[in-house]
Amino acid sequence: MPPLRFSPHDTIPKRFRTPLLVAFGFEGEAPDLPSGTDLPERARKDFDGKARSALLGYGAAGDGPERILLVGLGKKAKVGPEEIRRASAGAFHRARELKLPGYAVHLDPALAEQVSRRPLALALAEGAVLASHRIGLFRTGKESDKEEGPGAVDVFLEKGGAAFRDGLEAGRVGAEAQNYARSLANRPANTKTPAFLASEAKRIARETGARCQVLLEADLKRLGMGALLGVAKGSDEPPRLIVLRSRPAKERVAIVGKGITFDSGGISLKPPKGMEEMKYDMSGGGAILGLFSALPSLGRLPFEVVGVIPATENLPGGGAQKPGDLVTAFNGKTIEVLNTDAEGRLILADALAWTVKEFAPKVMVDLATLTGAVIVALGHEASGLIGTDRRLVDDLRAAGEATGERLWELPLWDEHREQMKGEVADLKNINGAGEGGGTIAGAAFLSHFVGDTPWAHLDIAGTAWGGRDRGYYKKGASGVGVRLLLEFLRARAAR
Ligand code: BES
Ligand code: MN
Ligand code: ZN
Repeated sequence: MPPLRFSPHDTIPKRFRTPLLVAFGFEGEAPDLPSGTDLPERARKDFDGKARSALLGYGAAGDGPERILLVGLGKKAKVGPEEIRRASAGAFHRARELKLPGYAVHLDPALAEQVSRRPLALALAEGAVLASHRIGLFRTGKESDKEEGPGAVDVFLEKGGAAFRDGLEAGRVGAEAQNYARSLANRPANTKTPAFLASEAKRIARETGARCQVLLEADLKRLGMGALLGVAKGSDEPPRLIVLRSRPAKERVAIVGKGITFDSGGISLKPPKGMEEMKYDMSGGGAILGLFSALPSLGRLPFEVVGVIPATENLPGGGAQKPGDLVTAFNGKTIEVLNTDAEGRLILADALAWTVKEFAPKVMVDLATLTGAVIVALGHEASGLIGTDRRLVDDLRAAGEATGERLWELPLWDEHREQMKGEVADLKNINGAGEGGGTIAGAAFLSHFVGDTPWAHLDIAGTAWGGRDRGYYKKGASGVGVRLLLEFLRARAAR
């Protein structure tokens, strides 16, 4: 599908010819429409402005809009970017149902005051672009799957200026990148091998000017990445360690993402129910690919961004590692693999330790669909956040609030780190039965591989898949992390 195009307008023409004019309204307040817009008094009265409500009216024949869609935002005091994102998605869906080639959006100055211009434009573009994502692309003969939906959106905001234009463009780019991350995670694992992820990284590097390096199995052996190799042993698909780097700079920010292209659990096999979803176990790595596809939109950054994706399948093949096996990680630490299904932390252990040694990053963030326990703790509404550096954790939380990709902090204490110490090896890959706190245990294990580098871990097992309908997200992979990372880096560069 060709990307959705937005045309910003700073002035509102008296009568703009469009198949559909969209206007948003607060609950209990009359919606603001461009002067001269014909909408029968009855229609204005029928519109109550409640969140997720909408009313379609028809304009008079001749010039001016053919149709007018009023979309409710809910109570004014509660309206922020998330409400705009949803309302904008609702407008896009309606325009697609009507099979319109494009539409126009009128933004009320009162709304620009409430949300401020850049976040308003950002959320508007995000909502529409995220809504344009389709997942039924492999169904043959379904006409509804082939409908492309509207291709162009005119957006009007009086005196919108640069903040308005930049917001629209940043929103469009970030949401396109998120859609890309979604389509990667939704992709069946038989067409999404570690080698495939590596070829995607190379393509992105070529298209954006980033540098890409892919370490092959022989490289991983030479480097002593026994933990990653141990997981890969159960699969016929060879593993990869994928590295993407932006423009060189003195300071580096490293992002590491779990890239398990399918997690069967290995010899500690998962139950069949829902196992097909485990193709999304590369969502952390997918967020990095999405991030790098959109990175040029941030302009010249005062730091280098390094993205690292350890990629492998976790399968129970004939050569698979077994519970009780011992592996030695890149940093020399020995690990007793008590459960082969706790594989994410194994591949990340090598990736984190190697990233620290190779790049000496100023800060390091990892994203991983690491534990089912985070779904028990936080559901699908927030990613788990655990870190060793207050400033980094706070910056990530702020980015989460700004993007609607919310994070919730869990503790990491010495007691947790102790739980991961082994009897026969330095570490074991699961904590004791009865100790609980599975998400923290995963992070505690990882913390043994980051040294003194300020580090934060995002457990996205609950947010990368299975959330409720948000208008701009319905089902399958969410592409979480892409907009979060973009905002985190943007804010870091701006200070
Ligand atoms: N990829 C899974 C985590 C997961 C579970 C993601 C459910 C999404 C939904 C991870 O590799 C895993 O299997 N974790 C185990 C850890 C356990 C063996 C300590 C888990 O959560 O059960
Ligand atoms: Mn697993
Ligand atoms: Zn996994």
